[in-house]
Amino acid sequence: MRIAIPREVHSGEKRVAATPETVEKFISMGFSVAIETNAGLDAAFPDSLYSQAGAEVVEDVTDLWAQADLVLKVRSPLPHPKLGIHETELLQAHSCLVSLVQPATNPELLDAIKERGASALALDCVPRITRAQKMDVLSSMANIAGYRAVMEAASVYGSFFGPQMTAAGKAPPAKVLVIGAGVAGLAAIATARALGSQVRAFDTRLATKEQVGSLGAEFLELTFEESGEGEGGYAKVMSDEFIAAEMALFAEQAKEVDIIVTTALIPGRKAPVLITRDMVESMKPGSVIVDLAAENGGNCEVTRADEHVNHNGVHILGYTDLNSRLATVASRFFGNNLLHLLDDLGGNDDWALDLEDEVVRSALVVHNGEIIWPPPKVEPPPAPPKQEAPKAVEPPAPTPKAVPSEPPAKKQNLGQSLMLLVTAIVLFVIGTKAPQDFIQHFTVFVLSCFIGWQVIWNVSAALHTPLMSVTNAISGIILVGGLIQAAGGAPHLSNITPGFSDMTLASTLGATAILIATINVAGGFLVTQRMLAMFRK
Ligand code: NAI
Repeated sequence: MRIAIPREVHSGEKRVAATPETVEKFISMGFSVAIETNAGLDAAFPDSLYSQAGAEVVEDVTDLWAQADLVLKVRSPLPHPKLGIHETELLQAHSCLVSLVQPATNPELLDAIKERGASALALDCVPRITRAQKMDVLSSMANIAGYRAVMEAASVYGSFFGPQMTAAGKAPPAKVLVIGAGVAGLAAIATARALGSQVRAFDTRLATKEQVGSLGAEFLELTFEESGEGEGGYAKVMSDEFIAAEMALFAEQAKEVDIIVTTALIPGRKAPVLITRDMVESMKPGSVIVDLAAENGGNCEVTRADEHVNHNGVHILGYTDLNSRLATVASRFFGNNLLHLLDDLGGNDDWALDLEDEVVRSALVVHNGEIIWPPPKVEPPPAPPKQEAPKAVEPPAPTPKAVPSEPPAKKQNLGQSLMLLVTAIVLFVIGTKAPQDFIQHFTVFVLSCFIGWQVIWNVSAALHTPLMSVTNAISGIILVGGLIQAAGGAPHLSNITPGFSDMTLASTLGATAILIATINVAGGFLVTQRMLAMFRK
């Protein structure tokens, strides 16, 4: 199959759908590749690199499209400025367009592709599921945009992001508010934190609270109960009351913060306006708002797409080309996402558009001249039938009804007191009868258990994977200690327990330590393997 990579015609678009590196991989998968002259020039990939990678560099655009089985593009087709026709008119009946399409807001484009009898895979419709992460162009581009948004803010903001203390004076850290903690928002938080600023964030989805916290930012919460979780890992439209409550929060924050990065969006909808003109006017002069949702109407009332607005000294940046401002890396990531997609579809040799496949069914918007968007809704598995909760497990309310629960509580207290008494007696016996050496080791053992417990339970769930490496390292130390003890010469167990003539107390404990540490090490590797397998095809 022949892949064609045209030069992007959208004004200001500097990305290219494939880099020389991805071209080389396409060729090794069995495809042949043709690229339009200067297609990668703005992303710092000259034609010579594509030729070296094995691509044919083609000057005639009509010819390039005419011979293509697959047309890889970044932006959806547009009127061609040089040819005076729409790019879809260049698409051949047998070919398949692979690009961003935005079918929800682009019905005419779907009709035009249908007219040509061609197919179209919309990269923006690849579902956000674990298996499709490597093909998720929207996530990789949003990640870059979040980073660049903070860089843009830094270039306009009149002070440092991190705290500074010099002989000439000091500067406090910038206060940054990020609205929407999706992919772009989290990238913006991480970048602003890396520059040393104080970051706070808000999102309608409470699931993001932990991610925000793990990046060292504060998660702002409302005392308003409404779930923001929508379909496919995206947000849902919130009630008017919720939006009013969050806007009241932003009105307070606007007076205090120096930078606001807004990323709030629900796919296929106009961006919600969350920062009003009044809020902008309440901000300190010199403050900056970067509105990532500018292309979809903007989260700020004052935003103008692709412009830098100075409103009473507050800068509002509505750039929609943040990815093009990092065109080299954006093209690399975009190209890699496409490479994974084409590989997932079988490559050159086993190419198939399997409509049973969740990724294909979601992304394929036109199939051989037939519009098949939107895909049928995948019904969630039926919920298990609700069982009436037995009265005994109803949470006790702080009313007279709670009184009958007193006897079990008393029983529990009695049990705890008994446990404490037994522990105290055991400790007393150990303290008075056991040898000095044993007491020293026992103290270290008890302290290690206590500290280990405290450390592990205070680590947030998001950091459990790196924690596993640390516990593996600790298990390694335990293994060494266990081996030394197992080979050592402590008192014979036969003196304590008849029948264990060849074993000492230390060697038995050492062997037990070796066994438990080995289980931990092996378990750690098995869990890591399982996690890695989730990311493999
Ligand atoms: P995403 O869907 O991962 O994140 C959006 C977040 O906003 C979600 O976490 C959602 O829960 C949250 N949200 C929705 N409504 C909200 C509300 N009322 N209040 C607070 N939070 C709310 O989207 P992603 O991929 O992070 O993209 C974010 C934005 O960045 C999009 O508007 C996208 O178009 C834009 N973008 C802009 C670029 C540019 O050059 N300007 C480049 C790439 C992306």
